[in-house]
Amino acid sequence: MTDTSAPTSGEGPPRAESSAPSGGREAAKPRACGGPIHYAPEYVRAIAPYVGGKPIEEVARELDLDPSTIIKLASNENPRGASPKVQAAIAAAATELTRYPDGNGFALKTALAKRLRVQPEQIVLGNGSNDVLELVTQAFLRPGDHAVYSQYAFIVYPLATQARGAVGIEVSANDYGHDLDAMQHAITPQTRVVFVANPNNPTGTWLAGDVVERFVAAVPREVIVVLDEAYNEFLEPSQQSNATAWIERYPNLVVSHTFSKAHGLAALRVGYGVMDAAVADLMNRVRQPFNVNALAQAAALAALGDEQYVEDSRVMNRDGMRQVENGLRTLGLRFLPSRGNFVLFEARDANAVFQSLLRRGVIVRPVVNYNLPTWLRVTIGTPSENERFLAALGKALEDSASTRAH
Ligand SMILES: Cc1ncc(COP(=O)(O)O)c(C=O)c1O
Repeated sequence: MTDTSAPTSGEGPPRAESSAPSGGREAAKPRACGGPIHYAPEYVRAIAPYVGGKPIEEVARELDLDPSTIIKLASNENPRGASPKVQAAIAAAATELTRYPDGNGFALKTALAKRLRVQPEQIVLGNGSNDVLELVTQAFLRPGDHAVYSQYAFIVYPLATQARGAVGIEVSANDYGHDLDAMQHAITPQTRVVFVANPNNPTGTWLAGDVVERFVAAVPREVIVVLDEAYNEFLEPSQQSNATAWIERYPNLVVSHTFSKAHGLAALRVGYGVMDAAVADLMNRVRQPFNVNALAQAAALAALGDEQYVEDSRVMNRDGMRQVENGLRTLGLRFLPSRGNFVLFEARDANAVFQSLLRRGVIVRPVVNYNLPTWLRVTIGTPSENERFLAALGKALEDSASTRAH
């Protein structure tokens, strides 16, 4: 178990160099420039910025490639895009852009509440589920409080923890997945929040519902447990979680979901958390009044009604996963079996392989920031994207082998 927090030793001009790690990653060095930057909290200056998947346009610009020939398999998006019903809903909503959106998201919350058999007051909408994770830390973490999460867990947990000046307690993973027993033991009277990603990104590891519920039951009721289910829809239906039903028993449980992944709405930024109404009330107080825009609300509502599209996306992902796993096996590469829409594979000289894939117009995701420098993560694409990725990967591995030989 490691304390991965930034120092909370106050504000004022920085020391020459901060050695504060940020979520198990190398800390960002405060830039040497004068003025207000020096007076920002030290824990903020030490944050290593989030590194997202490279956008297609950026790769096209940097490598002088035609953007239409590039495929992006770097951010776990749905390769099918949004469903036609959702696109129609967005077009209809786009005719009214003058007014602020419904800050309480009445229609979307009502539909979600009906689907999940909870009350609308138990739902907090977010500008992506990332927003929900941030809202938890805003509402529940003070500087010096502890948040517990697993090694290799989604990187926003350490980032959001550090942004509050709280102390991140990173618990060693068990075979790349969450070690829930060790996480339970890491909870102390200072712990206010525990994060669990199921399935986890970037490892794709997953724990069965009964195992997770036993963990939630064992966490003291004054500690918030965030169960991040961003990839839940990619699980086999029999494995999909019913964690929202547990909230009655565990009022400290926050279950977060997103429309960015299986529903294909990553660009619009919309997600939600389900929790006890009193917890939701608190989180709504720290939320921006109009954090989910009108197009996102309309699109999410339509996406919720298009269950067939989500089911078809799940099946396509399952088949694509087999295709990519078989290809990785043929190339002799180690990978972690994944329950998400992505897979982590080991590529020894991962940076060279990443660069070589970029030159071939295939964007995957390095995971150096997770302390996994020899691994790369690839999102499952369409069958032809997967085929193109595997062919490019074969060539990239040949490139890196011949570079090593010289
Ligand atoms: C585990 C996990 N949780 C949450 C998110 C946040 O997604 P969004 O903010 O798009 O809902 C992601 C995105 O990659 C993720 O992998």
